[in-house]
Amino acid sequence: MAGNSLILGETPSSASSLPPKSMGCVKELVESSTLTSIPSHYIFSTNLDQQVSTEEIPVIDFSLLTSGTPDQRSKIVQQLGKACQDWGFFMVINHGVPESLREEMLKACQRFFDLTEEEKREYMGKHVLDPIRCGTSFNVSVDKVFFWRDYLKVFVHPEFHSPGKPSDFSEISSKYSKRTREVAMELLKGISESLGLEENYIDTAMKLEKGFQILVGNLYPPCPEPKLAMGLPPHSDHGLLTLLIENDICGLQLQHKGKWVQVKSLPNSFLVNTADHLEILSNGKYKSVLHRAIVNGKASRISLAMAHGPSLDTVVSPAPKLLNSEINPPAYTGMKYRDYLELQQLNVLGEKTSLDRVRVQ
Ligand code: OGA
Ligand code: NI
Repeated sequence: MAGNSLILGETPSSASSLPPKSMGCVKELVESSTLTSIPSHYIFSTNLDQQVSTEEIPVIDFSLLTSGTPDQRSKIVQQLGKACQDWGFFMVINHGVPESLREEMLKACQRFFDLTEEEKREYMGKHVLDPIRCGTSFNVSVDKVFFWRDYLKVFVHPEFHSPGKPSDFSEISSKYSKRTREVAMELLKGISESLGLEENYIDTAMKLEKGFQILVGNLYPPCPEPKLAMGLPPHSDHGLLTLLIENDICGLQLQHKGKWVQVKSLPNSFLVNTADHLEILSNGKYKSVLHRAIVNGKASRISLAMAHGPSLDTVVSPAPKLLNSEINPPAYTGMKYRDYLELQQLNVLGEKTSLDRVRVQ
């Protein structure tokens, strides 16, 4: 409850280490004083100094998917399938989304975070199904440890929403949402094919015409004790595919064969990860990947994740064509995407606990 009252701007009764009358955002905390250590409720682990691996992450040349020869396309479809199966993560290059638009989008997010608390207040403390909300950590009413992260979440499809400030946010995010959506749709066609399904299977079965798309801006201010705090803990995403961009500061890590791999994004690429509903749809063939965001002591990192999911009213279950009663029975039960989303967003973020609820035991 202490967290909740912070978000509502009330004086916290138990979290005395936080400034009263504060929204509790990390940005304000960092800017309000010269911090040399982190408040105790941000201590995630004292063991974050593990070795990370720097293995090469698969790269997908998007242009060959859309305008390659049939031969090139089938090779890329194969590569996509392999990346989804082996990694659940890949970088997409030559996607045609202008670099200027990506940069403008990141800058617009920065300018949103730079608004005063007063200006952001109308979007704070909102329910998970409210179309525009901002805050800190993940869900402060349940987070036991706070994450070193402020966020903005905006629903951009099937209905487009935008905060009124900064004044150009709406124009930029509308363009950016449309362009990333087109990329995601093409990738999902390729992924459908790679599963041996019709090219439009995912589009039709997930009702992507009304697909749920959410823009998530993440701000990770510089942290005085980066080895103790966590930006976002290990988690999987709820949708089908997430397309992420970041400013020039690294921080995303993903789990691959039991090891954490540091992601170094190629210039102008999208970092794409497969999410829970692709795992359900593929009956576990393409598992959603665990990833986390670490923080650093020097610079603010901004990332922008665009999550593409089924329509909210779709009950998602494994594609029947992939099932076989003897060797491949359904491993997940059907659940409406809206219910799943609510479940994931209302609970403590960690590992794949939401997916565990729909797994057939
Ligand atoms: C997310 C996420 C990682 C990052 O927003 O779901 O995993 O690097 N972000 O910000
Ligand atoms: Ni994520």
